[in-house]
Amino acid sequence: MDLLHNTLVSAAMNSSTLSPQPVQQRSRKVYMETFGCQMNQADSDIALARLAEAGYHEVSSGDEADLIIYNTCSVRDGAEGKIRGRLGAIKQRKSSDPNLRIAVMGCMAQRAKEELLKTYPQVDLVVGTDQFVHIPELLERLPEEGRLVATNFGDFENSGNWSTRRSDGVNAWIPVMRGCNYNCTYCIVPTTRGREKSRPPHLIEQEAREAVAAGHAQVTLLGQTVDAYGKTLGDGSNLATLLRRLHAIEDLKRIRFVTSHPKDITDELLDTMAELPKVAKHLHVPAQCGSNRILRLMGRRYTREGYLDFVRRARERMPDVELLTDIIVGFPRESDADFQETRTLMQEVGFAGAYVFMYSPRPGTGANNLADDVPLEVKKARCNDILGLQLAHQEAWYRTLHGREYEVLVEGLSKNNDQRIQGRSIGNLNILVDRFTADGRDLLQQRGQLLRVRIRDNTNLALYADPVQAHG
Ligand code: SAH
Ligand code: SF4
Ligand code: F3S
Repeated sequence: MDLLHNTLVSAAMNSSTLSPQPVQQRSRKVYMETFGCQMNQADSDIALARLAEAGYHEVSSGDEADLIIYNTCSVRDGAEGKIRGRLGAIKQRKSSDPNLRIAVMGCMAQRAKEELLKTYPQVDLVVGTDQFVHIPELLERLPEEGRLVATNFGDFENSGNWSTRRSDGVNAWIPVMRGCNYNCTYCIVPTTRGREKSRPPHLIEQEAREAVAAGHAQVTLLGQTVDAYGKTLGDGSNLATLLRRLHAIEDLKRIRFVTSHPKDITDELLDTMAELPKVAKHLHVPAQCGSNRILRLMGRRYTREGYLDFVRRARERMPDVELLTDIIVGFPRESDADFQETRTLMQEVGFAGAYVFMYSPRPGTGANNLADDVPLEVKKARCNDILGLQLAHQEAWYRTLHGREYEVLVEGLSKNNDQRIQGRSIGNLNILVDRFTADGRDLLQQRGQLLRVRIRDNTNLALYADPVQAHG
């Protein structure tokens, strides 16, 4: 196995100087199913671009495919459960069609490694979060070498720009860093994605320029702790300098970034966000919980007071900044009093949105040594409580926005109604507008452009608005 690992490390380091080899002559069909976060989706897009270079074309159902790839997530046991289900369901087909290849990539592959081959004889290839770019070459080796595991961490960030498959949406996702140097005690991500590594800014700018030239009006910079961008580069780059660099790209209309850690939000970053008009006034900065006792057990490296100070610093500079949080309920030892502190934090801050998760013990993490002692029913009740609180807040807040005007970046048709278009404010408000104007214009033609609108109505998930006539 070591030999395999070494080969792959050197392949990764040299890959920018190698031109892609046409690995397959005849066309083959690949079906990819992606679980988890946007980083996984971005990885799937790169893997699919590499497979296309090798002669594979993508199909939309596993039944037609001769290669099935599951790009997996490990963040909670439920995420892995879905993948175990998929692998169980495909077993039958694999035994009747031995030419079918099954690959598992992503975070669960990185975490479970050889164990996946042992448990699932139907799996041919296990490929980790830094090695997935080599999928075509690994597939080539299967007939001779048998089933393979490739999960070492390589030098992915400096290996030049990999081509990627972009959707035709308004937004282009651009990973700017990978991995995470924190060790929140509940979290598997540092295990599955390794140490933090930032990509050099010139490669990011090049990728952003290509995305804009291909018609994307917005880029979203991705990282597990994106506000720590640049620390590993040692050239003075940080997220603020990166935003400034990308802001200069003509025809780029909006820049977003996710996800931030409260500890890394500097005043320089907040000042830069406030100054640059294309940068979304939106911060996804998970608080996780409101109790100092639990924050310490979580290893989050800030206190409730520290979090509230970040909120104050952000709002001082950007009064309308929209703050999005993740909340974990039912962390070990979370008492009713601790939970109440999460509720009061939510009330004090007034988040624009919240993702709420029930704590799920992960193998090998620090918190796994603590008993998972909050009963499931209590976790569920706390989860629903926070969700209810958040929706009530959104409803009340949205009502105060009636009559306000926003610049909306038009994304396309509303998902549920083709008579409406959907777009986002410079924060992250989901705004719907009637598709056809009174004078017969089709606003779908504004896709990828900014449209001035005035809010007239709302639900707790969306705002309804009318276009405002440009004047002057
Ligand atoms: N890198 C991001 C997100 C990490 S995972 C960040 O640091 O903000 C996304 C979210 O999943 C986390 O913010 C956390 O709220 C949740 N999460 C992570 N591990 C979890 C676990 N073991 N159980 C429940 N929720 C978890
Ligand atoms: Fe996980 Fe914490 Fe790193 Fe986020 S900052 S990826 S929650 S370890
Ligand atoms: Fe899941 Fe890995 Fe993303 S664990 S949330 S796919 S970083």
